[in-house]
Amino acid sequence: MQIVNVIVEDMEGVTHPLEGLAGWRLMEVIRDYGLPIKAECGGACACATCHIYVEPDDLERLQPMNMEEIERLDEAFEVKPNSRLACQIILDESMEGLRVQLAAGSEP
Ligand code: FES
Repeated sequence: MQIVNVIVEDMEGVTHPLEGLAGWRLMEVIRDYGLPIKAECGGACACATCHIYVEPDDLERLQPMNMEEIERLDEAFEVKPNSRLACQIILDESMEGLRVQLAAGSEP
């Protein structure tokens, strides 16, 4: 399976290079590395506690948000134009080097 490298900044501003796999949810990669992300609903798009900020330059490389994600993001804290839910981002090779930051409300 194709490896997709992503860079995740935690709430303390520390950056973590993570190795993900195409087809995996970004939330799962962050969680499986042991970084603090609440992701309470386990990826069902029902909690908004996998809130992340995507580096603005990288936004256009992601699949657009569907209605479910847009509605759920409404419940997140401190939503910004580059907010996304990490469980709704399915990694693929076009996302190599993606940079994101853990966002408000994602802390366990
Ligand atoms: S893990 Fe619950 S919305 Fe993403």
